[in-house]
Amino acid sequence: MDLMEKIYDAGIVPVVVIENEEDAVDTARALLAGGITFMEITFRTACAAEAIAKVAKNVPEMTVGAGTILNVRQAESAVAAGAQFIVSPGFDEDTVIWCQERGIPVCPGCVTPTEIMRAIHCGLTVVKFFPANIYGGMKAIKALSGVFGGIRFLPTGGVNAENLGDFAAEKCIVAIGGSWVCTKADIREHNYEKITELSREAVEKIHAARVHS
Ligand code: 3PG
Repeated sequence: MDLMEKIYDAGIVPVVVIENEEDAVDTARALLAGGITFMEITFRTACAAEAIAKVAKNVPEMTVGAGTILNVRQAESAVAAGAQFIVSPGFDEDTVIWCQERGIPVCPGCVTPTEIMRAIHCGLTVVKFFPANIYGGMKAIKALSGVFGGIRFLPTGGVNAENLGDFAAEKCIVAIGGSWVCTKADIREHNYEKITELSREAVEKIHAARVHS
């Protein structure tokens, strides 16, 4: 099965900021215990590559990717560490092509018709929509989807337990993303039971939203 289809099955890709690489494995296990099988570890901290490596090595049931990838150099470092997919906040063609040449699934951020057309030109069918709350949320995604029927979106930024149902129910949404299930503070304070509980709640809400759509 294609990785993007697996992301659809997972329904959610938490955006995870690891400040101390020693927290990475327990955080991945806490997400898994709540039914979340994908995580995006952001390249916003110095230990991001090491955190990805630890999860890839110690938690094989978790599909770990790298987020906030801004250029080819970071993509190289993430993939070398074991990242199974690459997410970018925006569209960087060099990074997209570098990933495609190596068979690494890549999901760049695209919020305008022009950016989406560049993604289509590269043969992509899934793009991130970030920051979703600022760029018009589901209303904007639906309008774009009317034109770009072959594209599915991964909205992040302002998506949370309260509004995820608005997104998850739509066919053009491949999965939702966000940091609320696994905040920096909860990771820092090792609130792993809370992370598991919020994960479970999110997964249940996504499934319920899809069933009723
Ligand atoms: C991202 O990187 O996708 C966002 O920072 C996540 O946004 P959130 O913190 O509003 O969930």
